[in-house]
Amino acid sequence: MKKLKILITGYKGMLGTDLMASLAPSFNPIGLDLPEFNITQKDDTVKAITAIRPELVIHAAAYTDVDGCEKWPEKAFAVNTRGTANVIAACAELKIPLTYISTDFVFDGKKKSPYREYDPTNPIQVYGRSKLDGEFYVSRLLKKFFIIRTSWLFGKYGKCFPRTILDQAEKGEELRVVNDQTGSPTLTNDLCQSIIKIIKNGEYGIYHAANQDSASWFEFATAILKGAGKKNLIQPIGSKKLKRAAARPAYSVLENSVLENSLNFQMPNWQDALKRFLTNR
Ligand SMILES: NC(=O)c1ccc[n+]([C@@H]2O[C@H](COP(=O)([O-])OP(=O)(O)OC[C@H]3O[C@@H](n4cnc5c(N)ncnc54)[C@H](OP(=O)(O)O)[C@@H]3O)[C@@H](O)[C@H]2O)c1
Repeated sequence: MKKLKILITGYKGMLGTDLMASLAPSFNPIGLDLPEFNITQKDDTVKAITAIRPELVIHAAAYTDVDGCEKWPEKAFAVNTRGTANVIAACAELKIPLTYISTDFVFDGKKKSPYREYDPTNPIQVYGRSKLDGEFYVSRLLKKFFIIRTSWLFGKYGKCFPRTILDQAEKGEELRVVNDQTGSPTLTNDLCQSIIKIIKNGEYGIYHAANQDSASWFEFATAILKGAGKKNLIQPIGSKKLKRAAARPAYSVLENSVLENSLNFQMPNWQDALKRFLTNR
């Protein structure tokens, strides 16, 4: 049977690399990324995508440096919002569905229970605003779309939190990690499986896809060290101590309501995902 041709923007990134590998057995994934492909250039973006004639696009390219977005908001909106509009233009021309990868940072973190797909959004930093504006374009300009919000990604490819913690641990450093932000750490490979499930099911709309259960960064770091058999000292600190440019939501746990209730698909919990990450790294 002919495999569906899927174009992945940002295919060299942490998620994009895993998508290319995870989709290959069932689909025909083709990647585009910087420097040859820049989504801020509308004509070039439309030309590059339409030339490939994909049957679906997964738009994973983004300016993901949260503090960088705060310092350079023009770049954040150029890439994450208007860049998304340029990818949309190509999908509209080809009349194909778009899968937009979005973020828990569209929420303000004031809720005390996991965020569902239709909870009100209210980003508190430029990154979240630029990604939410991208969501608005997707849902207003296209009929055929999946918006998939995920959070706290870690995975086999590229820089991620567990790798940073393990690098510091290997240098024998004492670790200081924030304990006043709670979220859902999510393994890119588990996210890829949920993306495949959503695409195959074909029901358009907004989805949350994160590993189950929650943790603070401190709890996550403690589990990483324990899982890797490291004995470094680790200290919880308040996020104010880090003096970062962008605010982070205090609580951004995602509930995968649509995946679970409509697609009967359960994501594994993050503790299980971390075990697999540590085994395969
Ligand atoms: N990481 C997380 O914790 C997290 C959480 C929730 C949602 N997400 C979303 O998940 C998606 C994938 O995230 P990720 O962590 O895999 O990000 P990533 O590793 O930073 O990958 C993003 C890719 O997009 C590329 N890119 C940046 N600007 C571009 C442009 N103007 N034109 C074309 N490509 C461009 C990057 O290239 P360069 O590296 O050369 O800049 C990179 O290869 C993003 O949409 C992100 O918003 C991520």
